[in-house]
Amino acid sequence: MLPATGRLGVLTIGLGAVASTLIAGVELVKRGIAAPTGSLAMMDTIRLGKRTDDRSPLIRDFVPLAALEDIVFGAWDPFPDDAYVAAQRAGVLEAGKHLEVISEALRDIRPMKAAFDREYVKRIDADNTIGTINKRDMLNAIREDINRFKDEKKVDRLVMIWCASTEVFIEIGAAHLTLDAFEAAIDANDPTIAPSMLYAYAALLEGVPFANGAPNLCVDVPALRDFATHNGVAISGKDFKTGQTLIKTVLGPMLRARMLGLRGWYSTNILGNRDGEVLDDPDNFKTKEESKLGVLENILQPSQFPELYGDVYHKVRINYYPPRGDNKEGWDNIDLFGWLGYDMQLKVDFLCRDSILAAPLALDLVLFSDLAQRAGMGGIQEWLSFYYKSPQVAPGLHPEHDLFVQLTKLKNTLRWMMGEDQITHLGREYYQSG
Ligand SMILES: NC(=O)c1ccc[n+]([C@@H]2O[C@H](COP(=O)([O-])OP(=O)(O)OC[C@H]3O[C@@H](n4cnc5c(N)ncnc54)[C@H](O)[C@@H]3O)[C@@H](O)[C@H]2O)c1
Repeated sequence: MLPATGRLGVLTIGLGAVASTLIAGVELVKRGIAAPTGSLAMMDTIRLGKRTDDRSPLIRDFVPLAALEDIVFGAWDPFPDDAYVAAQRAGVLEAGKHLEVISEALRDIRPMKAAFDREYVKRIDADNTIGTINKRDMLNAIREDINRFKDEKKVDRLVMIWCASTEVFIEIGAAHLTLDAFEAAIDANDPTIAPSMLYAYAALLEGVPFANGAPNLCVDVPALRDFATHNGVAISGKDFKTGQTLIKTVLGPMLRARMLGLRGWYSTNILGNRDGEVLDDPDNFKTKEESKLGVLENILQPSQFPELYGDVYHKVRINYYPPRGDNKEGWDNIDLFGWLGYDMQLKVDFLCRDSILAAPLALDLVLFSDLAQRAGMGGIQEWLSFYYKSPQVAPGLHPEHDLFVQLTKLKNTLRWMMGEDQITHLGREYYQSG
């Protein structure tokens, strides 16, 4: 494991609500003005050895993570607003309390010109772009930006994280299967090569770990997956697991664990931020819908339990409703049944804050992606499934969605990295006499 010495450059693709809340949060935490609530990397402990050993260090003392003081942010966005203006516009943080004190640091982060193509995000019309949709030129421009940032900011390592708008839905096609096909498609300006894929490819070519916070394919195509493994670059995705899906991956496993049946699960949201506006376009929503729908089926495994889960009506809706801004409200109505088939209902009304939930996940993904890279772990980081709605896994594997299985996997991976014993929860040794 290489040490976390020197500066870590964090490049966010997109400087909207999530990215500006992440950046502002790190600046506030660095100055001791606020706590990194929600960040496992910053706050949680990890148990080592037996329960009787009483060894539970903080994760950040156990594994060599980059210090927040060593992080330097950069970003791309088609809107020219600096991070201060972006944070103000996103309306997530209170200006008087949380933006003015760090305004200088935020104003310093001005977005680089985005590799942007309106065909992928129709609801955004802005011109801080590299001004071409020639894919080869876009790729080269991103690579130049990465290297210029590295030189100018004198950073030793980099991580990239997609915090940009959800792109329109596309399926994996011929252009995405092999690196040769992918390269040829770039030269042919193939419409199935999305800007997000060009950012991801640029990262991989530069040896920069990449995390994808949105549901679009991005780094999750065979050509880029294989290239990441081959080049030894850490990748993970897709789609931050924040509001309703977080709840689904806690309540779903509960139903399954208790062998309670399910007739239907209706999830609906109202939100009024720019993300909500982009997702109001049916083509962009379809990308999100796919990411949200797969979860229950994977958890409940209807083919194994057809009498319990063989006929589930699962619906997910996102409604753009400007008055709420980033303060999303998510309702879940769950129709379940128990002993002898008797019906019950469970209702959840989560009045959450989208970016307040997402920012700590983005921070952890940055810190852990950098850690994985220094530990020599290239390719898909399945142990980071904890953070994602649609975890990226090796071909042929079904993803693990249960939040607490994901947490166990994450912590066991950290133990494994540091040469500590795995915790199996067997615990026979506590009951052996003599
Ligand atoms: N709880 C959450 O907030 C949450 C949860 C899961 C996933 N996400 C995803 O994270 C992403 C960011 O969410 P947000 O609320 O910050 O959205 P946002 O609309 O506030 O910010 C996204 C930014 O990306 C920029 N952008 C679009 N295309 C770009 C490109 N090609 N290159 C660079 N920048 C580009 C937009 O101009 C915008 O400023 C979205 O895709 C969203 O679906 C958010």
